[in-house]
Amino acid sequence: MPIRASSAPNVALIKYWGNRKEELRLPAADSLSMTLDRPTVEVVADHAGYFSARSFEPDGTPRTLTEKESTRLEKHFLLAKKYLTDISVAHAFPASVSLEIRSNIPRSIGLASSAAVFSALAEAYGGFATQLSRRDVSVIARLGSGSASRSVFGGFSAMIAGEGDAIGASYAKEIAPANHWKLRDIIIVPSHKEKETGSTEGHVLAHTSPLFEARLRAIPQRQKTCIEAIREKDFEKLARVSEEDCLDMHAVMASSTPALRYLSEETHRIIREIKELRAREHLAVLYTMDAGPTVHLICEESALPAVRGYASAQKDCTIFEAEIGKGSRVV
Ligand code: PMV
Repeated sequence: MPIRASSAPNVALIKYWGNRKEELRLPAADSLSMTLDRPTVEVVADHAGYFSARSFEPDGTPRTLTEKESTRLEKHFLLAKKYLTDISVAHAFPASVSLEIRSNIPRSIGLASSAAVFSALAEAYGGFATQLSRRDVSVIARLGSGSASRSVFGGFSAMIAGEGDAIGASYAKEIAPANHWKLRDIIIVPSHKEKETGSTEGHVLAHTSPLFEARLRAIPQRQKTCIEAIREKDFEKLARVSEEDCLDMHAVMASSTPALRYLSEETHRIIREIKELRAREHLAVLYTMDAGPTVHLICEESALPAVRGYASAQKDCTIFEAEIGKGSRVV
């Protein structure tokens, strides 16, 4: 029987950047994010004699996967199988699979689909095993894309770095469910250019930055503050800690060798204007950027009209809006 699963991206508030063991995507530090409710990705996995993967655009047209993408998907399947075998739940697991991946994420909105794809795949693979915990599903998601582990949970979730080199050493857990705090994400995409260096390659360079060690020392306290801010629904505290961490990650990226500059002039302009608007109108809005120039404006409902108004006035930008989602699931 084929298994169908669905998921959506997440936006990081404490960023994951850098691994302690690349092949297993074991992160160098904890991170934390808010899971979005859209755009979704749907996958179907079925038993097959050999591995194959087909991908479809939002309008249903087939999209040819690059060799790099196919290899990553197959490698993820093999790692998932290894993990399920290690924890002795792989009895009914397929020798190989055929995959169909339907992404509703328009390329133009600057959101990476990998977190949604690999969490949905983890969900589907988990469906072939018996008695799998949510934690185990998050481990399998992590094996394809570190941040995907967090999309397994809805609401706010943390990726726990853990210790040691075991496959299951790092996993995600829920900090607060989707209905805990009604925040929105207004996404402004200033550039449609494909990013030059993907995050898989980027993580490897983190260690070359002279700022990386200090970042690793700062994260435990930031993670703690961020969790408190979410539990207390203290927006100012959340804005302070997440913006500090975002700028710190981009400083690490920009000071690595070679330097990774994901932010554009447009990104900096939007940040400047949002800070002015926030101060002038006392708005509960914060900005954050992952590995690209796309700006996420996370806000409370009271700030929504002003933030929407600001976003819609941006020329040559794509605007997208999301609410907090429930995480990946079998459908
Ligand atoms: O999961 P990856 O390997 O695509 O890395 C995600 C990296 C950032 O988006 C920049 C930060 C994060 O925590 O999501």
